[in-house]
Amino acid sequence: MLTYLAGAQIRRAFLDFYQARGHMPLPSASLIPEDPTVLLTIAGMLPFKPIFLGQQERPAPRVTTAQKCVRTNDIENVGRTARHHTFFEMLGNFSFGDYFKKDAITWAWELLTQVYNLPCEQLWVSVYEEDDEAFALWHNAVGIPPHRIQRMGEDSNFWVSGPTGPCGPCSEIYFDFHPELGETGIDLDDDTRFLEIYNLVFMQYNRDAQGVLTPLAQQNIDTGLGLERLAQVLQGVPNNYETDLVFPILAKAAELCSLDYYQASAEQKRHLKVIGDHIRAVVHLIGDGLIPSNLGRGYILRRLIRRAIRYGRLLDIRGVFTPILADVVVDLYTEAYPALVEKAHWVQQVLLQEENKFRKTLETGERMLGQILAECPEQISGQALFKLYDTYGFPPELTEEVAQEQGIPVDWTGYRETMQEAVERSQSAHQTIDLTQGGVLAELAELGQTTFLGYLQTYGTGLVLSLLAEEQPVAQVAAGAEVRVVLDRSPFYAESGGQIGDRGYLSSSSGRIRILDVQKQGDLIFHRGQVEEGTVRLGDTLEARVDEDLRRRAQAHHTATHLLQAALKAVVDPNISQAGSLVAFDRLRFDFNCPRALTETEVEATETLVNRWVAEAHTLQVEVMPIAEAKHRGAVAMFGEKYGAEVRVIDVPGVSMELCGGTHVRNTAEIGLFKIMTETGVATGVRRIEAVAGAAVLDYLKTRDRITRQLSNEFKVTVEEVPGRVATLQGELKRTQKEVEQLRSELALTRVMALADQAHDVGDKKILTAQIPDTNPDALKGAAERLLQKLGEGAVVLASAAEGKVTFVVAFSPALVKAGQNAGKFIGQVAGNFGARGGGRPNLAQAGGIPLDQVNEALRYAEQLLRG
Ligand code: ALA
Repeated sequence: MLTYLAGAQIRRAFLDFYQARGHMPLPSASLIPEDPTVLLTIAGMLPFKPIFLGQQERPAPRVTTAQKCVRTNDIENVGRTARHHTFFEMLGNFSFGDYFKKDAITWAWELLTQVYNLPCEQLWVSVYEEDDEAFALWHNAVGIPPHRIQRMGEDSNFWVSGPTGPCGPCSEIYFDFHPELGETGIDLDDDTRFLEIYNLVFMQYNRDAQGVLTPLAQQNIDTGLGLERLAQVLQGVPNNYETDLVFPILAKAAELCSLDYYQASAEQKRHLKVIGDHIRAVVHLIGDGLIPSNLGRGYILRRLIRRAIRYGRLLDIRGVFTPILADVVVDLYTEAYPALVEKAHWVQQVLLQEENKFRKTLETGERMLGQILAECPEQISGQALFKLYDTYGFPPELTEEVAQEQGIPVDWTGYRETMQEAVERSQSAHQTIDLTQGGVLAELAELGQTTFLGYLQTYGTGLVLSLLAEEQPVAQVAAGAEVRVVLDRSPFYAESGGQIGDRGYLSSSSGRIRILDVQKQGDLIFHRGQVEEGTVRLGDTLEARVDEDLRRRAQAHHTATHLLQAALKAVVDPNISQAGSLVAFDRLRFDFNCPRALTETEVEATETLVNRWVAEAHTLQVEVMPIAEAKHRGAVAMFGEKYGAEVRVIDVPGVSMELCGGTHVRNTAEIGLFKIMTETGVATGVRRIEAVAGAAVLDYLKTRDRITRQLSNEFKVTVEEVPGRVATLQGELKRTQKEVEQLRSELALTRVMALADQAHDVGDKKILTAQIPDTNPDALKGAAERLLQKLGEGAVVLASAAEGKVTFVVAFSPALVKAGQNAGKFIGQVAGNFGARGGGRPNLAQAGGIPLDQVNEALRYAEQLLRG
């Protein structure tokens, strides 16, 4: 026979028991932790994290607390199971490098069996599978028979406060509601029979982000006894909600809708439990200083309040009720949390405001429902039903009621399917939320996820969960501002898998944002754009409209990319694999591993094959399945890409099967046409094909067409005759160029020869010094020799500047050379005089580097020397 204890007595007895064993009792810390990496206090140990990690002094070697906690990861289970809560109290005894396993275990047992008087034969314990020490203590120090000590794995018996932080093996104590079922086939996880009430954590490691465990400087104890759970046991009630810690709230809520809880249907009871649980949580959260908002903790609070209100409406509670229930909560906790009494008025004000606001939202939902009914008076689709509920918080039962009044049926099956999809998405989203990042992103992660609607539709409405201007959260944005918007649901595809993000508009009656880019971070979709008109605020419901034309273009390119890969494998080499891709509005780019360039024939055959598949009008089959099944079916995955346990498979039956999250055409015929533009190499062993598909082919053709028409006009021939005409013209051009060259050199020679007239006689020799324009050194030498031939015996000095460089050339006739003159030495002397160098053979020599502005002076100097 169990001894009834009220919740407050259980709490008191726990603290007294441990105080008597040297523990300093401490008041509960706030639900809003100082630790910036955690959103809410989720366990009794949380305020002591820095002490366990050796970052903070311990207040005493041993402490004991009754700690307020909120966990929202199992919110869907609240009211459905006997023991799930958002708010609960955790009773704990802690040792900071003081006592360890032995005392923790023996005291826990003593407390449960001597103080709470739980019968030993209704208690079972578990230990971490490798923890022989704990096993031995339970057996030898406490006297539990070995078969009642279950060894359990890391999942249940290794406790960590989060992705990182202090942790250790743990030992749990379970209460058995049905000892009559015997001692064989025991499964402690079976919650129809067992309830975990007390968890002893032997905290001795710190876990880092990589999962590596480092021993803490000291061995510590962290424990948690669920107050509501023990109350359920000791009060002999079927669930936590019917304990004296929660029931008065349920009873009051029942009273407000004229129900007797015990007479209520299972569903009504469930709704009352959700209200009782949530109201308890929100009162404590607001009491600890939180206000509802659309970000982080504030959003958790808002969600809890809204859920409570929604369930209240389901139960037909008329008028504002959350402040009334808040009063009951404050009464319940007056003794344990006296500070809450002082906050009571504030809590009610906040709730009043929030409930009024949400009621307006619900009214919007009612209007939306009116519209839906006007548009489609035959039936309310499952999607519409879900949208009303999910976006406007409009309960589907209410939708049904309104519809029924007008004789319109609702599609519950479709609703449940849509709901199931949403739940699955949010569960898979949950696992990837990383709350450890801190800062804005951590807060945003708490927003949950953006439900992507865009596989099926390009239009939808979404609630603004966050607005970021210059990376900072803001409450509203006005015309001209650059902004990033997070919605709870959106038809906009965010850039990924090579496919670029959608473009379009987000708008409401008060403002419009033009979307220029869409990116994904975690499970949130960020719409980057510019406010074109009016203002947009947090909490607004926006119409999201994707530019359908651009979306169709991207889809054509995406499916065409899959076909291209399949065609390359068929035509060129089955071993070809994707190395990268871009799926844009105007083209696609596909990089693939292939050791050589494709031949022209291969490129053409590839193009033809893709176009054949396009013309064959294959309907795509899109399916989500476990990755193992996708691999088994032979779906192509991209090497090195990370995939989740469930993957989306795009199947063009008989042609291609790939894992892909992108958007695609429904039927290959929508692609219309596929055209390869270029095939090039990008790196060793990697080739690149750029191609166009769908509407982009028309753009490509238009450009080509314009160019050919221009050419045909220009050449005054038909388009077909252009290549022939170009070839003829090129031949003509070559011939003409040759002629021009010849004429030019003839002309130059004539000019040079004319210089002969300027030669001077010096004795029986002739001397000529001259500057000629723009002639390179070789031509200059040729000209000097020709001139000298014409002059007979003597010397020729020519200078020219070509391409900015000055060249001097000197030619001496044989008689001069015979007389001992040397052109090389001569030019050396001339050049030397102008800071340059020169040299060569006795009859022909050259110098360079004489400054341009001294060319005439150098020529005069040369002539003087020659005369000498
Ligand atoms: N920190 C441990 C828990 O929350 C006691 O279960």
